Amino acid sequence: MADAESLAQRLIAADFSRRGGVLQVGGLDLATLAETYGTPFFVYDAALMRRAYRALSEAVAGFAEVDYSVKANPRPDIIRIFADEGAGAEIASGAEYAAALAAGVAPERILFAGPGKSDADIERVVSGGIGEIHLENVEEMARVTAAAARHGRRISVAIRVNPGPDAQGGAMRMGGKPSPFGFDEEELDAVVDRIEAESHLCLVGLHLFAGTQGLSASTLLAQWAYGLRLAARVAARIDRPLDTVDLGGGLGIPYFAGDTALDLDAIRAGIPSLKTMIAVEPGLATARIVLEPGRYLTGPAGLYVARVRAVKHSRGQHFAITDGGMHHHLAASGNLGQIVKRDYPVAAVLDEGDAVHRPWSVVGPLCTPLDILARAALLPDLAAGDLIAVLQSGAYALTASPTGFLSHPLPAEILVDEGRATLIER
Ligand SMILES: Cc1ncc(COP(=O)(O)O)c(C=O)c1O
Repeated sequence: MADAESLAQRLIAADFSRRGGVLQVGGLDLATLAETYGTPFFVYDAALMRRAYRALSEAVAGFAEVDYSVKANPRPDIIRIFADEGAGAEIASGAEYAAALAAGVAPERILFAGPGKSDADIERVVSGGIGEIHLENVEEMARVTAAAARHGRRISVAIRVNPGPDAQGGAMRMGGKPSPFGFDEEELDAVVDRIEAESHLCLVGLHLFAGTQGLSASTLLAQWAYGLRLAARVAARIDRPLDTVDLGGGLGIPYFAGDTALDLDAIRAGIPSLKTMIAVEPGLATARIVLEPGRYLTGPAGLYVARVRAVKHSRGQHFAITDGGMHHHLAASGNLGQIVKRDYPVAAVLDEGDAVHRPWSVVGPLCTPLDILARAALLPDLAAGDLIAVLQSGAYALTASPTGFLSHPLPAEILVDEGRATLIER
């Protein structure tokens, strides 16, 4: 509980600030933004996203390019921030394809992954142009082949691999067990041969995404090394070098008490040995190595701000009932894949620091006990009209939430850049 609050305080000290006790984002006052745009709302700081992109790109310089996984936050204004930094995009639907194009990403810099791609989406990217389609199953291979044949094209594809047990890591394990994502590593050679036999497909790459929310540099480096070994195996089998090796995203950010931020210095220190692996492997020597993080780039830059509608003291527990909740931010409520429900870092927008802080349950307006933003956030005393902010809310927040549930309005989304706030497209 105390740690959860100190995480909020640490994040505020590192990335935000307070003026007169009022939380600022990119130099703008959250209380003023709340007056202007109404509550609840999401606010994203463009400078923090650029900083994260540049820091990661610098840490892996000479080894990998950093693309952006659009699913983390698909607003074109946000994709554009990374596109302007030089990022390509990893997309998982036709709508994400359109968002990436609208943000100025060139079609050849877009990778299309995801199981169960629809015929309409395959058609859309084949006709509009795409860097690579990442194949995840046999039916998809057939449907991409058919679309390519209809257009008289040869489509560049990569094989997404569901890795064996040695490649596990990250909080959500996606390898070494049965999975709907990608082809099992055990069948890799057969899949390679099958693609090679299709004249409308051109096998150019391998894709390994071993898990999300990885906070351990050594685990990520081990996964990347594993991906390079698999890629070398594919290059040897097809007897030509690969164009790309996509090592996935999965770089984590601290959400909970006790989480430690990913150590970029440790990542940087591991890069030379990965570069050596590539240098001695003819099938990889000319390959473009790609990382496609989402959460790491946008998560820390976003806050969800809600206003307290009522406070209630029930049988010894303090409740702040706000106008924001799980319909906008399912992850903060603990209902997006968390096994143990723990509190996201939550802060009062006005906190002069000297007031007594006590545990508050911050809940939303929905008629369900699941609608919780924090179970025991240490906050100064709250009253109706006060504002609270949920930090680490820039990724997998609004678009990963049941926005239709109980038919409440959508929140505003505001991008702050160079001291200016802009309402971004919904
Ligand atoms: C194929 C693929 N790439 C990239 C990502 C982005 O992951 P993260 O946000 O953990 O970096 C995901 C997330 O599910 C994914 O499925």
